[in-house]
Amino acid sequence: MAERVFLTHPSLTLPSQPFPTTRMASTATAAIAASRIIPSATALSSSASRSFFSSSSTSRSSLKCLHLHSSSRISHLFVNQRRAEVRVSSGDYATVSSPKSLASDPDQLKSAREDIKELLRTKFCHPILIRLGWHDAGTYNKNIEEWPQRGGANGSLRFEVELKHAANAGLVNALKLIQPIKDKYARVTYADLFQLAGATAVEEAGGPKIPMKYGRVDVSSPEQCPEEGRLPDAGPPSPADHLRQVFYRMGLNDKEIVALSGAHTLGRSRPERSGWGKPETKYTKDGPGAPGGQSWTVQWLKFDNSYFKYIKEKKDEDLLVLPTDAVLFEDPSFKVYAEKYAEDQVAFFNDYAEAHAKLSNLGAKFDPPEGIVLDPSPKPQAEKFEAAKYSTGKRELSDAMKQKIRSEYEAIGGSPDKPLQSNYFLNIMIIIAVLALLTSLLGN
Ligand code: HEM
Repeated sequence: MAERVFLTHPSLTLPSQPFPTTRMASTATAAIAASRIIPSATALSSSASRSFFSSSSTSRSSLKCLHLHSSSRISHLFVNQRRAEVRVSSGDYATVSSPKSLASDPDQLKSAREDIKELLRTKFCHPILIRLGWHDAGTYNKNIEEWPQRGGANGSLRFEVELKHAANAGLVNALKLIQPIKDKYARVTYADLFQLAGATAVEEAGGPKIPMKYGRVDVSSPEQCPEEGRLPDAGPPSPADHLRQVFYRMGLNDKEIVALSGAHTLGRSRPERSGWGKPETKYTKDGPGAPGGQSWTVQWLKFDNSYFKYIKEKKDEDLLVLPTDAVLFEDPSFKVYAEKYAEDQVAFFNDYAEAHAKLSNLGAKFDPPEGIVLDPSPKPQAEKFEAAKYSTGKRELSDAMKQKIRSEYEAIGGSPDKPLQSNYFLNIMIIIAVLALLTSLLGN
């Protein structure tokens, strides 16, 4: 189990800086460190054991791991710190300004992303991973300032108490799928992993690139989970009012509500989970993944704007339309965006990418505060000078101009096609002029 156990190492020069066991210890200090940290680790493992996958055996294995590997870990810590310093100068990540333990490690985030891609290729679990990220972030309440009481993307959804909220029915399956990746990368927080999985799933399904950042800090105990009831209901008495009430509380607007609803271009609803949808349709009876459920679109593993087209048409009873989907074409303000997205996939992708990134950051506490950007956009290159931009280009002479030049040449006995021949009359005139000039000069 990769639940992070934070310890304060007494012998290192970071007195107030906690860092995880996975960065512990070598050299002579290792033995002292290990002996001092076991009690705190034991205390904290009780909170770890309350996470959904924590068990006494996994907590024990964390401690066993600590004993076995403690000697090799301090050197890793220092190597990691040195790397962090190098990163600043290389400009590779928009991150570390001081050698300290971050919420997530950029290299591990990148490796975890590759593992998520592999998981998507084999399990076709794009939709449920997107829903996992959204349900962790979507509990955010902008009216509460304190973290983690404000909710949001803080990894609280890993705890059983929150997974059991009615709105999260079925999401335990998503957690089961990505837990092995969490176990492999101790320096990636749950909060980051949920958002990394969601964004990667959108991109891998053919959706837009999401401008994500990472470094989300995890809550550490189930007591820090938000209360039930912060996520939207699919069939409220007044869907438009309900959507506004829930999403405005998150600080999102009408455009973002409509764009984000477009994520239903992927996936299915299952009556045995949410209570919504048919047990199976002609589009879902053969999977891929576990068969069954009702999808919003025909190709429910392809991220495109077809959700808006089908919701608008409402022609196929095998395709799902929730009351909160239908209202996007009924409410005058929502409708403007829904119509636009049905017509224009590029507009949908642009707005979706922006809204998804915003959703993924809701309520999150970042370490470092500015976040970690895994794929910084390339620096704009200095523009190459192009003369044509600043002057009209070199042009051919017009025939009239050529004719004019020719006659001027010919007037003085020459031709543009051959060098000017010697002109006796002109030569005599020049000699006379020079002689006259000399005579007058000498006479004076
Ligand atoms: C607007 C309010 C929303 C409501 C009322 C709503 C409701 C639902 C419901 C009832 C399901 C079916 C769950 C099941 O039975 O397994 C579902 C699935 C899903 N939702 Fe939403 N949702 C909303 C917004 C969003 C947003 C904002 C996103 C993402 C940005 C999203 C992404 C998904 C995905 C991808 C699935 C498919 C999950 C799967 O196939 O396992 N939803 N949603």
